[in-house]
Amino acid sequence: KIAVLDFGSQYSHLICRRIRDFEVHAVLLPHDISADKLRKEAPSGVVLSGGPSSVYKEGAPRPGAGVLEIGLPILGICYGHQVIVDGFGGKVRRANREYGSSLLSVDDDGDLLGGLGGSFRAWMSHGDEAEQVPPGFEIMGHTGGSSAAVIADRSRSIYGIQFHPEVAHTEQGSEILRNFVLKICGAKQEWTMDAFIDDAVDKMSGLEGNILCGVSGGIDSTVTALLIHKAVGDRLKCVFVDNGLLRHNEEAEVERIFKEEFGMRFTALYAAERFLEKLKGITDPEEKRKVVGGEFADVFSEYAEKNGPFRWLAQGTLYPDVVESGATGGPAAVIKSHHNVGGLPDRLGLEILEPLRELYKDEVRKIAARLGVPPGLVSRHPFPGPGLAVRIMGEVTPRKLGIAKAASKIVEEELEAAGLYDTVWQAYAAVGDDRAVGVVGDERRHGSIVTIRVVESLDAMTADWSRLPHGLLEKMSNRITNEIEEVTWVTYAISSKPPATIEPQ
Ligand code: XMP
Repeated sequence: KIAVLDFGSQYSHLICRRIRDFEVHAVLLPHDISADKLRKEAPSGVVLSGGPSSVYKEGAPRPGAGVLEIGLPILGICYGHQVIVDGFGGKVRRANREYGSSLLSVDDDGDLLGGLGGSFRAWMSHGDEAEQVPPGFEIMGHTGGSSAAVIADRSRSIYGIQFHPEVAHTEQGSEILRNFVLKICGAKQEWTMDAFIDDAVDKMSGLEGNILCGVSGGIDSTVTALLIHKAVGDRLKCVFVDNGLLRHNEEAEVERIFKEEFGMRFTALYAAERFLEKLKGITDPEEKRKVVGGEFADVFSEYAEKNGPFRWLAQGTLYPDVVESGATGGPAAVIKSHHNVGGLPDRLGLEILEPLRELYKDEVRKIAARLGVPPGLVSRHPFPGPGLAVRIMGEVTPRKLGIAKAASKIVEEELEAAGLYDTVWQAYAAVGDDRAVGVVGDERRHGSIVTIRVVESLDAMTADWSRLPHGLLEKMSNRITNEIEEVTWVTYAISSKPPATIEPQ
């Protein structure tokens, strides 16, 4: 296992994911973890992540006492590099900001830079640099802007690199991490998804009592249910709440897969009317989210109380959420209140079971494939918890719901037909209260305006509108106005995130 200490870089999780690509377990730990606690994790090596601070600033984040002297191989990246320079007696100074791709010249192709050739392009993003290399360290690589871009004290296996090997823009960045993790740390390659499945099933097979799992048809809750089912069989009960805000035919498809393909105990609660009743007259997006979340909790709790007793509530929480909720530091600005149907376990007096809490999304996808989840479900675009309520501007009405479902289905079908569905992040059609005039035959009609939104993204933090071929957009538009009588105009959303968000609300 490799311990990655998080100094606040946006890439900290990415370092863990890259290391896991080598089938080595990587965990993200607080930057100031004590040497004792770190030792208990029994890592083969330590990575110090990048971060936004400067080591010479008052209050700059530092590793815990004794961590740098812990006797394990250490790799410092960007800010972590400066932590090493500073911590071992060198000097860091403010420099011209170096941002983007730089040519890195290899001065010493020993262990860390072994097999990389004489030079490669490396991704830089820093405003400080090593002015004086600490005693005992040598320079292994430099760029035009940083004379000490790669340094090492090989006798102690301590390394510092100014650039970011974890980002795709660094050529052979993955090789550098591989050299560190496998050659220098000698970490064991035991982190495979097959081993994970065996281990998780083994651990959960000892659980007593009945388990309740809310499933949405999304990959996280599906894999959660499958793993638990493997361990405890029919002591697991899956419950699906049809809130009436789902994609076309989604409820029927989820029911079919869970019952027929997986053979699980599965109950669908048809609650569309309740949700629509509660949403009546509500136009504020955050209010809609609250109503949908609250109603879900009510419907789910009523079921649990009547059909228990249950001891466990299973949730598909993933690693980034676990780390985030344990992290200190300032609260991130809440732009939209996501994902929080909180309070259920307390309300129901259940213990929480989170078999995916150590995993990243791509790892969950691998497990899904191994457990026989239909490929259509694995590759289906993410869908927000409040569903179509945030894709309908203004009040949620049956009319607008019908339009959003039918138009989104056409968008998805045409993307599939063009072979582009898997290349985009999300794709749908939104509708609001705006109307525009259309002519059908001789008749003028005042119909709805539908907005197609198709975006490309890696993690939903930023997104770009997809430059779909005009012919494809035309086909979508024609089908929407031909097949959905209430629609007269189709528009295409060409705003990226930021400043826009992916969902219209
Ligand atoms: P935005 O619109 O903030 O969306 O750019 C980023 C990602 O989050 C999804 N999303 C939600 N997911 N509950 C959810 O479970 C929500 O309230 C919610 N709002 C947005 C959105 O679909 C996109 O993938």
